[in-house]
Amino acid sequence: MKTIPVEALNELDAAIELAALAREIARHDKLYHGKDQPEISDAAYDALVARNRAIEARFPNLIRTDSPSRRVGAAVAEGFAKSRHGEPMLSLDNVFSPDEFSDFCKRIRRFLGIAEDGALAFVGEPKIDGLSINLLYENGVFIKGATRGDGAEGEDVTANLLTIPSLPRKLTPPFPAQIEIRGEVFMEKADFLGFRAAQEKAAEAREARRAAGEKLGDAIVIPANPRNAAAGSVRQLDARITATRPLKLLAYAMGSASEAPAETHHAFLDELRRWGFAVNPLSRRLDSEDVAEAFQAEIGAGRAALAYDIDGVVYKLDRIDWQRRLGFVGRAPRWAVAW
Ligand code: IVH
Repeated sequence: MKTIPVEALNELDAAIELAALAREIARHDKLYHGKDQPEISDAAYDALVARNRAIEARFPNLIRTDSPSRRVGAAVAEGFAKSRHGEPMLSLDNVFSPDEFSDFCKRIRRFLGIAEDGALAFVGEPKIDGLSINLLYENGVFIKGATRGDGAEGEDVTANLLTIPSLPRKLTPPFPAQIEIRGEVFMEKADFLGFRAAQEKAAEAREARRAAGEKLGDAIVIPANPRNAAAGSVRQLDARITATRPLKLLAYAMGSASEAPAETHHAFLDELRRWGFAVNPLSRRLDSEDVAEAFQAEIGAGRAALAYDIDGVVYKLDRIDWQRRLGFVGRAPRWAVAW
């Protein structure tokens, strides 16, 4: 990547670099979402996206129609039916320090017209590194489930999701007539190690058969990390294979709904539990910005001991009426952030 400071770029260099970034980020999106085999770290990917955003902020006239800031994830892969989400599945902006978190809070207060010392309550949730999915329930019955895909439409993986024991087939009443529930499918670290060891053994056996001249089917994929293992497992064309994988599901958000189920996010999480979903037990209502900062430190200190990989903590403004007023900018909500 070029290291010329954004302020020093001229318009021609900026246009050339934006074209290169659009191509490069699209390639990484495809590797990450389409093939579940990323080539670069999340941090390196975030740096590309941040550089793209910074150049676009300086040269808004150069924003491309295929700009990565207008897209989420990758396009639908071949082999699955497409499924349009009732509401788009968006992404989250990141902060990396107490200062940046504080700026995020200031922006919220300014937007809502709240006093500078006005308290903001959040819910903090570990950001599990898995595969996000959208689950449609009608009259309390699970109808279909899809991957995020490009944010507007994903892959219909209903049959595969039905093999996950923690996915409720029916909700405990009362519930809205129609609701989309969002959550993360993931593999715990210990389960991942067991699964990878089994795949390695299977690959060795396959190699022995190949050496003996046998004609073989598909290669055996050895996933690099729990995220890739979970994503690859959900995106199997044969649900019988998914059924053998140790997958879990935690629910944390909603998409479209025929009626609003709660006035605060923490009350919504209680509803999710009541309906029958697993909700992360570490998710917590945080009364103020300071309490949120303390939570960040607490989760950070306990991170290595968690049963699953996380890549941060998501902070969501607790009041849903305020979430609605804040709305979205680009592909991310103004009322939530990943730290
Ligand atoms: S909320 C509009 N909550 O993070 C809010 N996302 O960058 C959208 N994720 O694709 C997401 N844990 O896969 C939310 N507790 C959580 C999450 C979470 C993990 C992932 C999710 C999404 C990505 C957003």
